[in-house]
Amino acid sequence: MHSLWYRIRQFLRFYLAADTRYQVHSPFVFELANAVLEDRRWYYTFEDVEVIRRKMLSSPVVLNVLDYGATTDNSTPPRRTTPLRRIARVSASSPAQGRRLFRLAQWLKPARMLELGASVGIGTMYLAAAARGARFLTLEGSEACAHVARANLEILGLNQGVEVIEGSFKDNLNVALQSLGQPDLVFFDGHHRQKPTLDYFNQCLPFLHDHTVLVFDDVYWSPEMTAAWQQIQQHPRVTLTVDCFDLAFAFVNPDFKVKQHFRLVPSSWKPWKKW
Ligand SMILES: C[S@@+](CC[C@H](N)C(=O)[O-])C[C@H]1O[C@@H](n2cnc3c(N)ncnc32)[C@H](O)[C@@H]1O
Repeated sequence: MHSLWYRIRQFLRFYLAADTRYQVHSPFVFELANAVLEDRRWYYTFEDVEVIRRKMLSSPVVLNVLDYGATTDNSTPPRRTTPLRRIARVSASSPAQGRRLFRLAQWLKPARMLELGASVGIGTMYLAAAARGARFLTLEGSEACAHVARANLEILGLNQGVEVIEGSFKDNLNVALQSLGQPDLVFFDGHHRQKPTLDYFNQCLPFLHDHTVLVFDDVYWSPEMTAAWQQIQQHPRVTLTVDCFDLAFAFVNPDFKVKQHFRLVPSSWKPWKKW
């Protein structure tokens, strides 16, 4: 309940401060806003993924998962049994987030992607569907979730080029980065604590190229995650950030000479902000 109030307060602050594409002077950010926030086109993939989500939401299956949410450090997480429908309801990206991920990847056309935290593969499917042919590694600590994610990807024929790697981020992030080379998109969506988030971000930095996009989920999940996001914004390598509340993007392109931070909502959320 405490964190729900935190998120509501943060959303109100975010919303009051947010601009729409009409206040943005950067052509790059204007294009990003058009692609990710304003695009209303509908794709069959959205329905395909949502059918899978609905199946999981009504599934009687119970999984034996490693509960990474229960650990605050890198210790081995406890095992617990959890209904698949609960994981699909609580852990997976929402439909709106999924569409934003899809549209971002469709705009970027990444050749190499990395996801930290596949869970049951909802975000993975949206990203993979938008960038068919990309090499995509996704890390997942819970074998049972990784198994479901693989099965879901297979149902949609998205398993070509996508590898779900089982095990902790600590054990696998470096291996994945070495294997991918320079990722074009990294989606941070697991282990929502300040220190681990910053550690994973720092670990990725040497592998990024100028046009890599870093995507962070849940930056308003808790005061810790907001602090992590603020530290990422201040990092000397980060030259531009775009915060859309449910997803936040960081860019390391040195061509952006003056560091800027944007908070953006779709223009329909603030129809009076047209100029
Ligand atoms: C929020 S869910 C991911 C949701 C998914 N990206 C989506 O878009 O639907 C986070 C996942 O990260 C995994 N996770 C969290 N901490 C981890 C860690 N340290 N190592 C490996 N997996 C971890 C959890 O098991 C969980 O399935």
